[in-house]
Amino acid sequence: MFKNVIVRRPGRSLAEGITSAPELGKPDYELALKQHDAYIKALEECGVKVTVLEALEEYPDSCFVEDTAVLTKRCAIISNPGASTRRGESVLMIDTIKKFYSDDQIEYITSPGAMEGGDVMMVGNHFYIGLSARTNEEGCRQFKEALEKYGHTCSVVSLEEVLHLKTGVNYIENNNMLVSGEFIEKEDFKSFNKIIVPENEAYGANCIWINDIVIVPEGYPTVEKGVRDAGYKVIVLDTSEYKKLDGGLSCLSLRF
Ligand code: GLY
Repeated sequence: MFKNVIVRRPGRSLAEGITSAPELGKPDYELALKQHDAYIKALEECGVKVTVLEALEEYPDSCFVEDTAVLTKRCAIISNPGASTRRGESVLMIDTIKKFYSDDQIEYITSPGAMEGGDVMMVGNHFYIGLSARTNEEGCRQFKEALEKYGHTCSVVSLEEVLHLKTGVNYIENNNMLVSGEFIEKEDFKSFNKIIVPENEAYGANCIWINDIVIVPEGYPTVEKGVRDAGYKVIVLDTSEYKKLDGGLSCLSLRF
C-alpha cells in the first residue's frame, strides 16, 4: 500500500517542455492546472497523503516528478536525469525526500551514470530498469548496486521504441501488467497476466495502481475495460495537456 505521494505543480514554462510530439501542439497552462487539480483529488480518493510542491518555472518539465527519484519502502534513490535540461530537478527534490527518509537511507546516481525514474518499474521487491535514451548502462549499474544494499533486486530491460520503460509497461499488482508495443513479447514479462494494450491506445498503457484503485487516462476504452475486467475500481482522468509533452499519469507523481 502507498501512504504518500509527492507532486509538483506545473509552471507556465510547461509550454517549453521536451516533446517528441510537437504536432499535438503546446499545452494549455490553465487546462493543465485543472487536470493537475483533478489528479491530486484522485490521489486523495485513493487514501494517500499528497505533498504538493510549488512550480519551478526554470524547469519546464519539473511537474514530471517521477523522473527525479525512486522511493521504496527501504530507501530513496535520487536520479541523475539523462535529459540535461532536467538535471537540476533531482537536486531540488532532495530536501523534500529528506522529510521522509533519513540520510543513511538515501542514495545518489552520479555522472557518468544517468537515470530517470520513469525507467523504473517496481514489482514487489524487484525493480525493472529500462536502458533507454535517458538511462544509461552506468546509471543501471549504480541503481542496481544501490538497491541491493537494501535487499531489493533489479534487472535491466532494453528499450528500442519508447521514451521510458513505463511509457509502455506498467505493473498494477496481483501479477497484472499492462503491456504495449515492444513489451508484449518480452521474455522479462512472460510470467505476468498481461493486459495487452493495442497500438492505437499505446499511451493508455501508462496507468497507476494506488491502493487497489487504478487510475486510467481518459480516451483509452480497451485499456479501461481490461483494467475493469481484471477486477479493479477505476478512476479515469484527462491528461491531454501532459500527453503533449510525452507525460503520463505515472510521470506526475512519486508514490511510496
Ligand atoms: N517532457 C518530459 C520529458 O521529456 O522528460
